[in-house]
Amino acid sequence: MSRTIIAPSVLSSDFSRLGDEVEAVADAGGDWIHLDVMDGHFVPNITFGAPVIKAIRGRTKKIFDCHLMIAPADPYLGAFAEAGADVITVHAEAGPHLDRSLQAIRGLGRKAGVALNPGTPESAIEYVLDRVDLILLMTVNPGFGGQAFIPAVVEKVRRVKAMIGGRDILIEIDGGVTAETAPQVVAAGADVLVAGNAVFKGGAGAYRANIDAIRLAADRAAGRVA
Ligand code: DX5
Ligand code: ZN
Repeated sequence: MSRTIIAPSVLSSDFSRLGDEVEAVADAGGDWIHLDVMDGHFVPNITFGAPVIKAIRGRTKKIFDCHLMIAPADPYLGAFAEAGADVITVHAEAGPHLDRSLQAIRGLGRKAGVALNPGTPESAIEYVLDRVDLILLMTVNPGFGGQAFIPAVVEKVRRVKAMIGGRDILIEIDGGVTAETAPQVVAAGADVLVAGNAVFKGGAGAYRANIDAIRLAADRAAGRVA
């Protein structure tokens, strides 16, 4: 059984040194680099877009996991693919044509992800399961790092895991993930854990220990290590 994938979110990094931070967190054992794109419209915050992702793409070979919290998303999918995104995730709530968005991402040769806010039921993605490679379940309301994990979502993780059945789809959890909350979602079926504050706290010297602590707690809960 493969180990839990840890995806540090650079939202909690020092933006004045973004390229160095990406490199540091990759060297410290982060598996994927999670990139939170916010538009100040779908979510109440603005971060960065495709040009910034393109600028840091050369700093690591690790998977660039782009979480688009933007509406509409479709006009920008090509730009994120071109910038070097490996996984492109759109929110089910962000537009009326989810099936089309997911087809467009795969058409660009990228892995297609769909995200659900905490209040959105899993039925929203029931009919697009054959078009997705990853399902991102938000365990906070998107927009900011450092928020408290919403435990009600753990049951949704379980239900989504059952819905996936034998399909090759990863479940990713985003928001308030720590070594304390990780075991609950991993035991329910999560494969990928995004973590911002829990990874970047304490500065670069702490990144490796922070990542290892989350991964160890997760792998134990999943029965992946003794
Ligand atoms: C929130 C973002 C998250 C955020 C997580 O809208 O999607 O990726 O960076 O940060 P923490 O782990 O601090 O909750
Ligand atoms: Zn995110």
